Amino acid sequence: MTNPQPAENLTWHKHKVSRGDREAANGHRGATLWFTGLSGSGKSTLANEVAFALHQRGARTYVLDGDNIRMGLNRGLGFSPEDRQENIRRIGEVAKLFTDAGVLNLTAFVSPYREDRAAARSLQPEPGRFIEVWVKADVATCASRDPKGLYRRALAGEITGFTGVSADAPYEEPHDAEIVVETARHSVPECVSQILSELERRGVIPPVQS
Ligand SMILES: Nc1ncnc2c1ncn2[C@@H]1O[C@H](COP(=O)(O)OP(=O)(O)O)[C@@H](O)[C@H]1O
Ligand SMILES: [Mg+2]
Repeated sequence: MTNPQPAENLTWHKHKVSRGDREAANGHRGATLWFTGLSGSGKSTLANEVAFALHQRGARTYVLDGDNIRMGLNRGLGFSPEDRQENIRRIGEVAKLFTDAGVLNLTAFVSPYREDRAAARSLQPEPGRFIEVWVKADVATCASRDPKGLYRRALAGEITGFTGVSADAPYEEPHDAEIVVETARHSVPECVSQILSELERRGVIPPVQS
């Protein structure tokens, strides 16, 4: 039941307070920062640190993080290709709502399939609202970090369909990511400032007044 069609007899209701009104009140644009990468590459760490930095600058932020969402909204979905697609489809829809709310929302999901990420991108209201951040690190680095002990279990054959380890669970590297952070080569603070500079350069957030 992936990507189901909407029911019939529905009418979109236009609301009185627009995205532009909300963005004017917030002092910045709504946008999705879509972090993608292998497990252990640093998506949660960086999404949280960037959200913290943005919050300190007075921005409205929200982090949507993999396991947290799978415990609630997406409870019941597993890691088959179909369930992964449905997981990302729903997150894409939620991210779109946060953008419409004028919030800088940061999503931290492996999101291994290019097509699913492209679908999430296409839901956003206009170009520039979806900023794909490829959190790039090789499997060996991620496995040596193993923050949740998942690589150890996957390599021992206790977890099947583990992205980057199992032959049937590839990670499709982005071709069109707006930002690429190399977390095996750069520290967390370096990656955070790279992302913030890129957001300024793209006009997503205003530069800090000195
Ligand atoms: N430059 C970096 N960016 C992000 N995380 C890093 C970096 N360098 C080392 N790490 C470490 O890598 C681990 C990444 O874990 P996590 O953020 O949970 O990954 P993911 O959410 O992608 O599965 C953390 O222990 C973090 O401290
Ligand atoms: Mg994570």
